[in-house]
Order: sequence, then C-alpha cells, then structure tokens
Amino acid sequence: MEQKMKKYQRILVTSALPYANGPIHLGHLAGAYLPADVYVRYQRKKKRDVLYICGSDEHGVPITIAAEKQKKSPQEIVDFFHFRNIKAFRAFGMSFDYYGRTSSATHHQTSQDFFRVLSAKGIFRKKTEEQLFDRKANMFLPDRYVRGICPICHQDGAYGDQCEKCGSSLSAADLQEPRSALTGEVPILRKTTHWYLPLGEWQEQLQSWLAEKTDWKTNVAGQVKSWLQAGLTDRAVTRDLSWGVPVPLDEAAGKVLYVWFDAPIGYISATQEWAQEKGDPALWKKYWQDPETRMIHFIGKDNIVFHCIMFPVMLMAHGGYILPDNVPANEFLNLEGEKLSTSRNYAVWLEDYLARFSPDPLRYYLAINAPETKDADFTWKEFQQRSNGELADILGNLVNRTLTFTAKFFANRVPPRAALDELDRRMLAVLAAAPQQVGDLLENFELRKAAAAMMDVAREANKYFNDQEPWQTVKSDRHKCGTTLNICLHALQTLAILIEPILPFSAHKLWKILALPNDLADAGWDEAGQSLLVEGQSLGEAEILFRKIEDEEIQPEIDRLRLSSPNKQSAPIVEEKKIEKIAIDEFGKIELRVAQVVAAEKVEKANKLLKLTIKLGEEERQIVAGIAEHYAPQDLIDKQIVIVANLQPATIRGIESNGMLLAAQDETGSLSILTLDRPLQCGAKVR
Ligand code: 2FM
Ligand code: ZN
Repeated sequence: MEQKMKKYQRILVTSALPYANGPIHLGHLAGAYLPADVYVRYQRKKKRDVLYICGSDEHGVPITIAAEKQKKSPQEIVDFFHFRNIKAFRAFGMSFDYYGRTSSATHHQTSQDFFRVLSAKGIFRKKTEEQLFDRKANMFLPDRYVRGICPICHQDGAYGDQCEKCGSSLSAADLQEPRSALTGEVPILRKTTHWYLPLGEWQEQLQSWLAEKTDWKTNVAGQVKSWLQAGLTDRAVTRDLSWGVPVPLDEAAGKVLYVWFDAPIGYISATQEWAQEKGDPALWKKYWQDPETRMIHFIGKDNIVFHCIMFPVMLMAHGGYILPDNVPANEFLNLEGEKLSTSRNYAVWLEDYLARFSPDPLRYYLAINAPETKDADFTWKEFQQRSNGELADILGNLVNRTLTFTAKFFANRVPPRAALDELDRRMLAVLAAAPQQVGDLLENFELRKAAAAMMDVAREANKYFNDQEPWQTVKSDRHKCGTTLNICLHALQTLAILIEPILPFSAHKLWKILALPNDLADAGWDEAGQSLLVEGQSLGEAEILFRKIEDEEIQPEIDRLRLSSPNKQSAPIVEEKKIEKIAIDEFGKIELRVAQVVAAEKVEKANKLLKLTIKLGEEERQIVAGIAEHYAPQDLIDKQIVIVANLQPATIRGIESNGMLLAAQDETGSLSILTLDRPLQCGAKVR
C-alpha cells in the first residue's frame, strides 16, 4: 500500500451523495460514511493531500415521491433535509471538506456541460420507444414510480430502476406485472423519446480497465463480474419528469437528466465549488484530471453498478477525467436481525441516537462491526456491551488508572523513565509497531480489523500495567513504578493518535489531558509510536472518556424497534405503513382522557424530554413526554391535552411517568400535541 501511494500525489475520497428526502440512519453511516471518514482522517494524519467530498442528491424520483407524500414541493423537501442532514453528520464527526448539493447552479451547469460533450461526441443513442404511462396520474412512470416483479429473482415489489432484493439494475419495462406506485393503476404503454448511453459499446474498454483492479474487494469484484457476464445494454440517461436538471437540448424540452446521470457528476461539481470557496477556482482540476490523483468512492452495495460501470463509462466517454482507483463498497447493516426499512420506520435515525448518546461509541461499534464483506447486524445489546466492555472497561480503564496513579503518586507529572526490563521493552515495541500495523489495515479498507487492532493496543497496555504491579512498586521501587507509568502515558499518547480516525471526540479529550504542546490535528500518524511526552511535564485534569450505558437506556430503543419490526409480508405498493385492523373492544381497553397542564419543565440532561404535571379531574399526575424539541415548557401551561390514562407507570431517566401524551409527527419531523377544539372539564373521556 505504501508502494501504491508512492505512485500518487493526492487522494480524492467521495461518499455516496445521500438523497435529501429523509434523515440519515445507521445503515447509511455503516455503508458509505463512517468507513470513508475514518479513511480520510487516517490519510490526513499520514499528512497526505486528501480531499473528502460529499453532498445531497436532490433529484430523481426518491425526492418527488417524498414531496408528493408530504404534500410539499421537491425544493421544500430538499432544502429541509439538506440542512438537517448536514447538522446530524457534523454532530457525528463527519469531516467532509465540502458538502455540496445537486440543486446548485454549479451542478446544473456542470452536468449539462457533461451531457453536451457526450452529445456532441455522438456518444448517445436516441430512441423512441414505448414506456409505461399512468393514465390516472397523466405521467410516464420512470424508475421508482413503478413497482412489480423482478425479472431476475422474481421478488415482488422491485422498483423500475432496481431490485433491492437481488441488487439488479432494471429498466421499468423489464418488470413483470407492473403497477404505478402513485395510483396503483396498471400502466399502459406510450411512445416517448430518450437518450441512451450504450454501455455495451464500452464493455471491452471497461473490462480492460477493470482487469487491473486486482485489489478490489471480492464483494465488489464479484458483482461487477456478474453484470459484465450478463452483457451490458443501453441505459436511458433522460427522463420525462419535471424535477431535475433540464436536458440541455432544444429538442428535449420538458425532459430532465436521469438522476444517476447527474448525481455522480455531483462529486465533480462539489469539488468545483470547494475550489471556488478556496479562492482558487481551477484547483478542482488537480483532483479530477491529474492521473496522479487516486480517486476512491465509498458507497453501499446497492450503488455498485453506478460507480463501477455507469459512471466510469461516462468518464471514459467524456475523456480527460481520471477513473476511480477503488470502490470499497460495503454490504448492508441489519437491525436486531431484520432488514432495515425506512418506509416502516424500522431504523435507528442518527438524530435520535445523538439526542441520547455520544457519537464515539456508535462510531466504534459501526467500525468494529462494519458490514465489510457481508451484511452485519446492529443490536442495541451488543452496542452496549462493546461500549461498556471495550471502550469503557479497556480503553477508558487504561486512561483512568494511568492518570489516577500519576496524579496520586507523581504530582500529575510525567515520571522519568529509568532502566527498562523485558516487559517495558516489549510494551514499547508494541507501541512502536502499532501505527504501521493499524495503518496497513486502514489502507486496505479493513476497518473491522483496524478497530480491533487499535483496541488490542489498549488491551496490551492494561496487561502491562497489571504485570508491572505499580501499586506494589510504588512502595518497593519508585523508579520502576515511574517507568511503568511513563510507558503507560506513552501508550495513551500513541492511542490518542491511533484512535483519532474512529473516535475523534475521545481522542481530542485524551490529547487535552496529556497536555502536549502541539495540536492533535498536527500530530502525524507515523509519530504515534514515538514518545512525545517530556519527562517532568504536567498533565491536564483527568475526565471520564466513556460513561457506562445502562440497561434502562437501551431498553426503550429495543422496544421502539420491536413496535415497527417489519412483518414478513412484502411492502404495500404505495409506501404507507401497514395498519393492522383491531376490534372495537381492543380499542376500548385504552383509556384516553382530557388533561390540563398545570406545570411543565425540562428534564435535565435529556434534550428531548419535558416533565409535565397534569390535572385529570381531581387527580394530579406527572408524565414525561418527548416533546422538548418542539414545545417550550411555558407554552404548554393551561393547555388541554389528550393522554392515555391507563398505561402502566414507567420510569424515564429516573422520573416516573404516569400516562402518555398524544402527539402526531409527520415525516418532516414536525410535531403537534393533540389539543381540544373547545374547552372541556378535565378528566373527560375521549372516545
Ligand atoms: O443511493 C443513494 O442514496 C444515491 N443518492 C447515491 C448517489 S451516489 C452519487 F452517485 F451521487
Ligand atoms: Zn431481483
């Protein structure tokens, strides 16, 4: 790998542009974002010229379907989620150099120019063919507007552009028993003209380029090979839709570019915008046109065909651009043994996670359990176990015991290193070798092993601490005790650098405690194994890096997932939540009552919670409600609300809650509590 980097001057890293039609969930993070962020942070520590580009994918049917469902315009949807996702990514520690959006003027211009170049070179095939048309909705049904049976794996519910079951890339016309996702109607065929990229003509060139990619992950190479074996066909790159980048040809009025044509060009336009912001507008060219740039696309497995076949063909056809050096696609992350499903809300949303926990434990768990070569499973229990048993009990413990001991017996200063024994030498050798060892794994996209190797360093250091018994030597041989602590502090300094890519927040805290003169951002990966601490230097104040995660914090998360656990039936064609019918007497078991809010206050250290005192007739009760992000406590006083009055009491963050307030939330996240249309006596029954 070092060898490989010698060939290159710089690295351009991209993460798939997430659709701005919904919030970010753990599946996104595990596939295309965390692995890239760790890689980039590592490369920055190696002092390489690395640029990390991402942004919102704001076109295509996923956006317009979300807009239709939420009765908003596509622009409103993308504006809302673009900024919301940026905020969540930032809080998770994603370190993009630039986060663009495909509705920007630069992007429209760049993707239209790209299309014009291909058109002028005669690359496209223009064809008039029959396509599916929904008479009720009066529109053609490209891509996700149509669902049906996959012609490859025969799964029902496949989309017009792709089958999520087998990953095949499809054309709407390939689907068996097609139905409109908008109206449920069986579509008719109607003629329309489109521009096609003749992938088949590029197959040979593509194959000889791919033949050199001997270091690609087997899951990626395998998928690519099977598409090539099946033979590549023409892919339409224009659509009959009103939302998107207009096709820049007079004869194509009313048509837009296919989202998978414009989205990857988004990597280029975002780099251009980054260069403009840097005040050097031509700088983007170094990253896209200089063969000494190594481009790496981080994606989830459903994006392989677009990044390994379609985009490379577009780049080859255009000419003058580099092609990706690697596409380390990840497999999927399941949740508690079930497939994640956003339409059923069977997901863990990043914002929800961050409202309750800090980012590093999730970064660690998603790294050590990354879906690298096969699908991985996220369980809250394992998250808790790894966080408590590894981050807190191994790494946190090492930090804690080393610092406590140094503070207590050596005035919180780095003790001098005296004569070394065999164990000291062995520990120093481990620290000296660790940067190369962990680094090689990261270079090779082996995130799981890298996370484990990093934790092994902390494990070894704990063992070293135990074997040296400083609690004994502090009495019998103070020099030896000082040497042990000196080496343990050196281990902390090595670890602070090595954990930074995966645990950036904790690394910064640790660095601050070590009170080193330079900034962690400037500390190089290769210096990690050397001793940067100076004998006699003072250390900062210790703090707990990883708090224990309690059972009562994760149980509500598990319960919430259970409620939306997907049943085994296939998804309804119009993506609504399937609502099970119940008998009236089942509803009768739920006692809904009108209550009046008499007091409201925030719950300490719980951003989302309010504690309400409510009157229910003569009775006063206390309930805890997750509405603090939507209502200020004073706005609730005297409001008449509706509560479920016969719920078993629950303890939430140590506070008893005796009932549940009713509120509604739409998919944009807006929330409204249920209030009354006219005042009633409190305690009144709701039927
Ligand atoms: O699958 C997705 O979420 C797409 N929005 C990814 C686009 S990647 C790139 F090509 F823009
Ligand atoms: Zn299929």
